[in-house]
Amino acid sequence: PSVTRDPSPLRQYNGFWIPEMILKGGFTAVHSCFEPRPSDVFLSSFPKSGTTWLKALAFAALKRSTHPPFEGDHPLRHWNPHDCVKFFELDLSAGEFEALPSPRVVATHLPYSLLPDSITREGSGCRIVYVCRDPRDALVSFWLFMRKVSPSFTIQEAFDLFCQGRCTGGPQWLHVLQYWEASVRRPDSVLFLRYEEMLREPESHLKKLAEFMGCGFSKEEEEAGVVSAIVELCSLGKLKEMEVNRNGVNNWGTKNETFFRKGVAGDWSNHMTPEMAQRLDRIVEDALQGTGFTFATSA
Ligand code: A3P
Repeated sequence: PSVTRDPSPLRQYNGFWIPEMILKGGFTAVHSCFEPRPSDVFLSSFPKSGTTWLKALAFAALKRSTHPPFEGDHPLRHWNPHDCVKFFELDLSAGEFEALPSPRVVATHLPYSLLPDSITREGSGCRIVYVCRDPRDALVSFWLFMRKVSPSFTIQEAFDLFCQGRCTGGPQWLHVLQYWEASVRRPDSVLFLRYEEMLREPESHLKKLAEFMGCGFSKEEEEAGVVSAIVELCSLGKLKEMEVNRNGVNNWGTKNETFFRKGVAGDWSNHMTPEMAQRLDRIVEDALQGTGFTFATSA
């Protein structure tokens, strides 16, 4: 069955709801003709969980020798992070992926179990960074994002779909769980970050991210303020105010501001009723029972 509220109809595939368009296109391509390199970094997330922020931080950290964060014409002052780091199942052909200079950094919303074996197998050398967010905030962010294209979309509708797992990459808690389990099994290959903790301590998370990607900051860089400059460059306020080509429209033809809203933890309580929150909590708790994983609660 297809779901009509998402921009592309969704299909259930191996336990996850994936846009049909991805299954027919990028997913097949990624599995058949994308060749990862050991230096590749994959940024992974459930939608509306801090993907854009993670893209900005990883890009700024990895490319700092060619693009110091202090530079007035740093790409992130002119381009949306989604233009700097592409989704490999959505934006890139195999040829474009091949042509990216190493170390390549690309993003994905695919669940861990749907990533090609060439990336996840022991010894691939590929690194995966996952950002996880409180499901209640991811839901509210998803609803408000979708409302821009579908103004009659109610929180109740969004809630019902989300609870059934019927949104891109859903069920959200299983998406998160798979990456968390992978990070426990293979900590050198999978770094698991939490959006709420990144908000509390952006600098230490940036340092951890850079270290994991193989480009840790030197003492001299830290003393020169490179870490704080990157955090500032990638802050919601700075990304929101960037000049973007084509009058605020990025390469996707979407308004730049679409990706930057409040950027806080706990905004769900302004939109969901306590009953909704309790129902979702119960669903998530039941699904995660016995796994050892719990979400950081944002409020
Ligand atoms: P809200 O809608 O709760 O504000 P994604 O990038 O995965 O689509 O997630 C979007 C969410 O991340 C939005 O949350 C957005 O405001 C927030 N976000 C985007 N850039 C951010 C940044 N630089 N710092 C913190 N949060 C950011």
